[in-house]
This record gives sequence, C-alpha cells and structure tokens, in this order.
Amino acid sequence: MFIRWAVIGSTGMIGKKAVTDGIMKANGCKLVAVQGLFEHETAPLGEKWGVPWFTSPEDMLDKVDCDAVYIGSPQNVHLEHCKLAAKRGKHVFCEKPLGLNGSEVREMVDVCKENRIRLGTGFNLRFNSIHQKARELITGGAIGKVVSARCQYGQNYPPDPKAFRQVLENAGGGSMVDMGNHAMDLVEFVTGKCFNGVMAVTHNVIYKYGVEDSCGALLEFKGGGFAYIDTYYCVPLGILRNDLEVNGSSGILYTVDSLRGMTTGGKLVVIAADNKKQEYEFDGVDMYRKEVEAFASAVLAEKEPPCGGLDGLHSQRLLDAIYKSAKTGMKVEVPYENI
Ligand SMILES: NC(=O)c1ccc[n+]([C@@H]2O[C@H](COP(=O)([O-])OP(=O)(O)OC[C@H]3O[C@@H](n4cnc5c(N)ncnc54)[C@H](O)[C@@H]3O)[C@@H](O)[C@H]2O)c1
Repeated sequence: MFIRWAVIGSTGMIGKKAVTDGIMKANGCKLVAVQGLFEHETAPLGEKWGVPWFTSPEDMLDKVDCDAVYIGSPQNVHLEHCKLAAKRGKHVFCEKPLGLNGSEVREMVDVCKENRIRLGTGFNLRFNSIHQKARELITGGAIGKVVSARCQYGQNYPPDPKAFRQVLENAGGGSMVDMGNHAMDLVEFVTGKCFNGVMAVTHNVIYKYGVEDSCGALLEFKGGGFAYIDTYYCVPLGILRNDLEVNGSSGILYTVDSLRGMTTGGKLVVIAADNKKQEYEFDGVDMYRKEVEAFASAVLAEKEPPCGGLDGLHSQRLLDAIYKSAKTGMKVEVPYENI
C-alpha cells in the first residue's frame, strides 16, 4: 500500500530541494506528478523524476490520479490550492504557515473535514531526531517540571524585489511568520505543552520592507511557565545561535545547531540538578522524508497525522495574536479550547 503524491510548487525552494526529493525516498510514497508556475523550470523536473508535469495546479489535479497533494506554493495561495485538492477528495499536506491568517486556515480545516480528507502541516523540525529525543526526555520527566523555554530562529534576508516573503499581502508577516512559527511549534512539541497567551514586539531595525525584520515574543504556557521566541531577517545565519533551551525544576536541556535551515542534525545536552551532563548526537536524517512518511502512514491507517491541520490552525492563531499584541501593546489570549 502506498500514497500517490502530486506536488504543487515543485520548482520552489522547499518543493524542489526538500519535499519532492523526500517523497521519492519515503516508504509508502510514490510521486505521480509535479507542478510549477513556469514551463522551463517544471519540465526538467518532471523529466528528472519521470512523472507528468504541469504549470496549472487545477489541470494537474484534473488529469492525474493521486491520493495526496503536497502544497509548497507561497502561503497567499495555500487556501486556494487546499480547496482544489480537498474538493477532489485528495488528502492535503501543506507547508507552514498554512495561510495568511486564522480565518483562512479555519476555512482550510473545515473544507478538509467536509470532504473527509486529512490535512497535515509541514513543521519539519519535529522530525529532527534531536528534537524527538528532547521531547522524549522532557515528557519523561528528565528535567522535572517545565518552567520556561527559549528558542531562536533567524537569518539575514536583504531586500529583494522578487521575494514574496517581503510583501505583507503575500506573506502575512515577516521573520515571525517564516521562521518564528517553526520555533513556537518546536517549543510546544518538545515540552508537550501548549501556549495560550502572548505579548510581542515587531521591528524593522535594518530592512525597511513591508514585513518585520525582527520579532520578540513572550508566550505563556497553559498551566504556567513561559517561553521567549526571537526571530530575525537581519542577522547573519552563520553567526546566529538558532538554538532551543528548556529550563525545568530539576534540570535544563539545550540544543546546539539543531535549527539549521533545511538540514538536520545537531547536538542535545541535558544537565541535571547535580550538574551531571549528558550529550546526544544523531546522524543527519532527512526531516522532509520523515514528515511525508509519517503523513502517508497516518492516511493509510485512517488516523489523524502527527502534525495536523489543528496544529497549523493553532500556530496561525498564535501568529495573529503576536501581530495584534505588537500593534496594541497588550497581552493577547489564544485559548486552544476554542479551536
Ligand atoms: N518547512 C520548511 O522548511 C520550509 C522551507 C522553505 C519554505 N517553506 C514554505 O513553503 C512555501 C513556499 O516557499 P518557497 O521558498 O519554496 O517559495 P518559492 O517561491 O521558492 O516557490 C514557490 C513554488 O510555488 C509555485 N507557485 C508560486 N505561485 C503559484 C501560484 N499562484 N500557483 C501555483 N504555483 C505557484 C512556484 O512556481 C514554485 O514552484 C512557503 O509557504 C514557505 O513558508 C517551508
């Protein structure tokens, strides 16, 4: 049994470098078609993978028999592409952020539910073995009760007139939407806890484009404790620490080099209250292969995927709250219960 995948946005940074390649290698998955906006980019990919290629997502989904659609187009068209797939009864695995705001993502979740198909969200960092080990240790009590966490994720992103990420209407926000949402999801994933309130600031310290080049968010965990997320479009990737740290009542845990863009690996360090230190290192695993494998096996088992549409909706509501807080200077509640 396997899942036949059609890829929307196969010629993009993520679609080409990571996910299409991941689908080709993944157990239980078969690539059956690719789409990209431009013929000169898409045709060579179709030939490389030996599958039909298309420039229109609608055309691809009308002509190709598939079970699931990977959406790797920019977020301003995720809702449109999700509806195209869901209305044809195809399962949807969509890149983060799922949409431009919470109401778009609500529509995505609802259209998938109405059409009885699964919706998955591409938070690939959950599939780095370092982060999976961190979750196992923290939820197993290795550092006691979680008190706080800190996660940084950023890069340098100078102005580029062709970059959809630098246009508010196309991206929905800047470094927080692009990288900070990975960091927030990762903190919730490794701690097994959920954020339900936020205070944030956004700035354009270096680059004056229409989205923020830096954001700091203080998020509260439901049941107590907090996390600080800092994210940048204006500090060089090579020197940023881009790390994760969790502080508990009887130990701390941190990662080194585990948020490195699209590659995987890094080191995990756990220090107990008696100062005893343990270190873990893992071989690079392909996070993108693992995430599509996990989605495909959930679909085949008729189960909710490990990173589903509600995870994407919660993340988007946190983003909405972050921008509202930055605008109003107020703390904004994000109750998960109302999802
Ligand atoms: N999880 C990750 O590690 C990760 C990494 C990079 C990007 N992303 C996400 O993936 C998405 C795409 O980012 P990217 O950097 O690959 O973008 P990109 O601009 O490099 O590629 C976009 C792809 O979508 C196609 N496309 C663009 N507009 C389209 C439209 N209107 N209709 C159909 N196809 C269209 C393009 O031809 C291209 O194939 C974004 O939502 C981004 O946040 C996730």
